[in-house]
Amino acid sequence: MTVPRALTIAGSDSGGGAGIQADLKTFTAFDVFGMSVITAVTAQNSLGVTGVHDLPPAFVARQIDAVLEDFGADAIKLGMLSSAPIVEAVAERLQAHGAERIVLDPVMIAKSGDALLRPDARDALVARLLPLADVVTPNLHEAAALAGMPVETEPEMEEAARRIHARGPRHVLVKGGHLKASATDILWDGRTFTRFAGPRLESRNTHGTGCTFSSAIAAGLARGRALEPAIRAAKAYVTAAIREGFQVGHGVGALRHFVRDWERA
Ligand SMILES: Nc1ncnc2c1ncn2[C@@H]1O[C@H](COP(=O)(O)OP(=O)(O)OP(=O)(O)O)[C@@H](O)[C@H]1O
Ligand SMILES: [Mg+2]
Repeated sequence: MTVPRALTIAGSDSGGGAGIQADLKTFTAFDVFGMSVITAVTAQNSLGVTGVHDLPPAFVARQIDAVLEDFGADAIKLGMLSSAPIVEAVAERLQAHGAERIVLDPVMIAKSGDALLRPDARDALVARLLPLADVVTPNLHEAAALAGMPVETEPEMEEAARRIHARGPRHVLVKGGHLKASATDILWDGRTFTRFAGPRLESRNTHGTGCTFSSAIAAGLARGRALEPAIRAAKAYVTAAIREGFQVGHGVGALRHFVRDWERA
């Protein structure tokens, strides 16, 4: 029996709840073999990010080559990319390998408010990575930055999705985790909008929701699911993992990545 393979290209979260660590836990929850290319190492806990150490772009490229030349990947998730030269290196190697099924989580700011993408890297991400993405998953703040407009309501999410789609990704999924009343995510494929509705859960334990959601989508794609069913399953998983989240550390607590029976939840 072949085991689906998924690769995450992202930053390390020493706190274990977001970044590479959340991605690998999520891949495991979906019975997918997880591989990781680390772009930056963060010193981070539930209270915030106290340091970021970027890896040299050439070494990020070398990790990508090592993984894709030997294992290959059925889907790839991109998370924290930190700097413009790292964005360039990632785009260049993904193109060289003809990578497919790419989920781009355009990580810009941590939940704690700390910057995870330098401002000049944003332009590189738009120019080099949006055109490679099957789906890009901005939260409200990132959608606003990418679309150049305020994004606080569902109609604004739709307009931002249209504008971002014009920059080249096949699908845009604007996440509603920061909406006031609901947690509805909106998908735009250039023709129709599809809504993924979910209850808004009151919880402090939400560290890594975005990383977890995008890697769950990549896991579904790696398993051969089409995008919409992959998003539906990812939404069910992240909702259950938030509902069963727990306090660890003194700030924003963790998701229960090892939540059971989320498919039936
Ligand atoms: N309080 C909540 N209740 C229910 N669902 C939520 C909640 N917060 C986030 N979600 C869901 O989690 C997923 C991730 O969305 P979110 O907007 O939190 O991403 P993010 O801001 O990128 O997260 P992060 O800060 O971890 O990067 C989406 O499906 C969103 O709807
Ligand atoms: Mg995020």
